[in-house]
Amino acid sequence: MKKINIAIDGPSAAGKSTIAKRLCSKLGYVHLDTGAMYRCTALKCLNNSIPLDDEERVVAMLKDTDIVLTPDGKVFLDGEDVSKAIREDAVSMAASDVSKLENVRKELVARQQKMAEAKGFIMDGRDIGTVVLTDAEVKIYMTASALARAQRRYKQNIEAGIETSDVETLAKEIEARDYQDMHREHSPLKKADDAVEIDTSDLTIEEVVDRIYQLVEPYLQENA
Ligand code: DC
Repeated sequence: MKKINIAIDGPSAAGKSTIAKRLCSKLGYVHLDTGAMYRCTALKCLNNSIPLDDEERVVAMLKDTDIVLTPDGKVFLDGEDVSKAIREDAVSMAASDVSKLENVRKELVARQQKMAEAKGFIMDGRDIGTVVLTDAEVKIYMTASALARAQRRYKQNIEAGIETSDVETLAKEIEARDYQDMHREHSPLKKADDAVEIDTSDLTIEEVVDRIYQLVEPYLQENA
């Protein structure tokens, strides 16, 4: 069966990773969570007291940094399992901060494009449809209200045993991070012209998966 690449962009906690994982199991595809790479970069900066706006030092550090995303969703930073550590609230804003740096983006985008050279990937992030995989066959721009996103992030944090702020504080943090991600100079978050927008606020996971599957199906059948 023919394989394609699927790009999912959108603001934080819109459900991108959850949906990408479900779709991957359904299609036998591999999920690449690009946000995890910015989070690893931020975590290493925080651990090594490298200022998040010192582009030269952050890039030099990154050149010497190994980030591995495993097919079962684990994240390894220089050989250490940081799957949980990168999800802490403090790392979220730091990730958004380092993602503003042009040369950090260049380095990570090059790695992401190399990872998805073959087809059969679902990549989620902020610039996948607009920069990383401009030729992805299916592009989704996933949104949800700030409150719905804060409630989901709160639930996820609790379930994963990650220290969390309350829903109201999370909503404020999410909005501040979205604003920063949408207004940065380099590759700001925006909907690709050819992306399909899905507001997930009032949809179940299955409903969102089904909608995307309907967009993917014609490509699978093309050369089946
Ligand atoms: O998807 P996430 O919340 O784990 O991403 C963390 C931060 O990384 C996000 O605030 C912006 C940045 N990011 C980005 O700039 N480009 C991507 N493709 C993915 C994430």
